[in-house]
Amino acid sequence: MTNGKDSCAGQTQQTSMLKNSHPLSHVKKVIGVVSGKGGVGKSLVTSLLAIHAQRKGFHSAILDADITGPSIPKAFGLHEKLKPTPFGLYPVKTKTGISVMSLNLLLTNETDPVIWRGPVITSTATQFWTDVIWGDVDYMFVDMPPGTGDIALTMFQSLPLSGIVIVASPQELVGMIVEKALNMATIMEIPVLGLVENMSYFQCSDCGKRINVFGKSHIDAIAEKFSIKNVAKIPLDSALATACDEGMIELFNGDWLQKLFNSFEALPDREED
Ligand SMILES: Nc1ncnc2c1ncn2[C@@H]1O[C@H](COP(=O)(O)OP(=O)(O)O)[C@@H](O)[C@H]1O
Ligand SMILES: [Mg+2]
Repeated sequence: MTNGKDSCAGQTQQTSMLKNSHPLSHVKKVIGVVSGKGGVGKSLVTSLLAIHAQRKGFHSAILDADITGPSIPKAFGLHEKLKPTPFGLYPVKTKTGISVMSLNLLLTNETDPVIWRGPVITSTATQFWTDVIWGDVDYMFVDMPPGTGDIALTMFQSLPLSGIVIVASPQELVGMIVEKALNMATIMEIPVLGLVENMSYFQCSDCGKRINVFGKSHIDAIAEKFSIKNVAKIPLDSALATACDEGMIELFNGDWLQKLFNSFEALPDREED
């Protein structure tokens, strides 16, 4: 029986599974955006954080590791197809200069389903880190596979995450789903940088009153339970949904994630591979 931290087999394995990036990639901070399940706004939060970083003058990037549900290119209105060069694969740039890599940029037909088994999905997502020539990036945001299953676990172990942001809907914050994601991060010793409650409330455009569509918010209680300092709430906002649908997310107005993003600046830069 082992009892010392140094002799923990799981920990040794976790360290050894970390993958190196391409020699021409120099990524200072890698932040994973995680959710307990799909459809809660993980891609939206990934996009908004990257846009905040870019607006502040940093070079930001999005690695879309949600292989079976890639929605980043659509939100940014990216439809061009990437072709590998003899040197490797370069990301696409959005209108404001954010570098993006997503499976939808490689598929001939965006609506083709990805009918792949887990290992192929994970190796594709991992290759977006190892084989893509990202260049100099200050902040890389990773749209992680949803849930706490095998694919998410492999991504947690393969990428050198500076930390993660957990996105949840108000209903999930009542249930156990978000606690599972939080416990997974704790077990894997990955810092939780913040908790985002999406679709938190609806603000009436006439009277300005906030309506908690899904009942009372539980985000502060959960943040306290898990000692998470940064919490953010994003309202249910039809302008956001339209911006995503029309590929115009870079035009969004809102400072809900500004404080959370500012807290990332204190994170140490990664050491080169
Ligand atoms: N706060 C919000 N207000 C309005 N629509 C939203 C909001 N958050 C997400 N949506 C919409 O809900 C859908 C799912 O969001 P998405 O970020 O793609 O979820 P996930 O990546 O978790 O599956 C998208 O069509 C998005 O535009
Ligand atoms: Mg998504």
